[in-house]
Amino acid sequence: MTTAALPEGMGISVRGLSKTFGDLHAVDDLSFTVQPGRVTGFLGPNGAGKTTTLRMLLGLVRPTSGEALIGGRRYVDIPHPMMTVGAALEANGFHPGRSGRDHLRVLAATHGLPDARADELLELVGIPAAARKKAGGYSLGMRQRLQLAAALLGNPPVLLLDEPANGLDPEGIRWMRDFTRHMARGEGRTVLVSSHLLGEVEQTVEDVVIIANGRLVREGAMEELHGAPAALLRTTDPGTLAGVLERAGLTVEVAPEHGPGALRVQSGDLVRIGDVALAAGQPVHELRALRTDLERLFLQLTESPEHRNRNLAPDQEAGR
Ligand SMILES: Nc1ncnc2c1ncn2[C@@H]1O[C@H](COP(=O)(O)OP(=O)(O)O)[C@@H](O)[C@H]1O
Ligand SMILES: [Mg+2]
Repeated sequence: MTTAALPEGMGISVRGLSKTFGDLHAVDDLSFTVQPGRVTGFLGPNGAGKTTTLRMLLGLVRPTSGEALIGGRRYVDIPHPMMTVGAALEANGFHPGRSGRDHLRVLAATHGLPDARADELLELVGIPAAARKKAGGYSLGMRQRLQLAAALLGNPPVLLLDEPANGLDPEGIRWMRDFTRHMARGEGRTVLVSSHLLGEVEQTVEDVVIIANGRLVREGAMEELHGAPAALLRTTDPGTLAGVLERAGLTVEVAPEHGPGALRVQSGDLVRIGDVALAAGQPVHELRALRTDLERLFLQLTESPEHRNRNLAPDQEAGR
């Protein structure tokens, strides 16, 4: 899609970033980095401080302390911000009486870009038919796409997307997933995507930055979150088979959450597990690799007593 070559890959660097609103530590000594060419999930429950962090990266909120840098610079010091970073934040209002195309043309004009760029982007985000329709009549999915088009006007190497999957139907979520992947892996952009649901971005992101109550909980590759491999095995006499497997050197525990007769074996070697059961003459009714329940892990990480919804206003809690 690009009309011009992208500038060199630009990373994001957040260092010791804090923001307080009165007594509230919305963002609390937060540090993380985001690499170009990858999609990074910026995850945390509602009220964790994701939007506030993104707004600080964009110079819309002044940090109480610390820095939020894009390509090594604070937003205010970036010479051509629109050509450097594109953002789609929550509640980014469009004039309801203006068409999507006019909205983009106005934005383009203020940055010296031609009208044709607006049509190019409407095409790219898959809403060319929306060109003449008033933005007030757009579905949430169309608004998300229009925001994305606006963010991409200046062909920026860095994209910040705040909960882009919110309110999208499954087709829209799939589209957004492919789109963000293409932007990062295909075109080398730095893409930071926030979400309050790990499951929503699980298949999209390569890296995660997980926060709770404004603090970093976990940072790293998505793959690392899955942890050590495990297998689920179902049999008729789990106690006996557990003993057999343990004598074979495997670590085993009963797993009633997976139904009757279920055992959780700490190994990804299904062949070995099956062979050990067979040699002992024990029936195997099910044997499969067990993927980590990431949504559960996410809740464990973000809802530990020290992190428990310290920042959540009562109205937000009700809305969850
Ligand atoms: N301008 C503001 N004034 C006071 N409190 C705010 C303001 N902006 C955000 N907050 C509070 O800061 C916390 C973090 O909010 P936010 O960054 O929006 O979290 P998230 O995007 O992760 O849901 C919340 O408790 C929120 O109510
Ligand atoms: Mg938010």
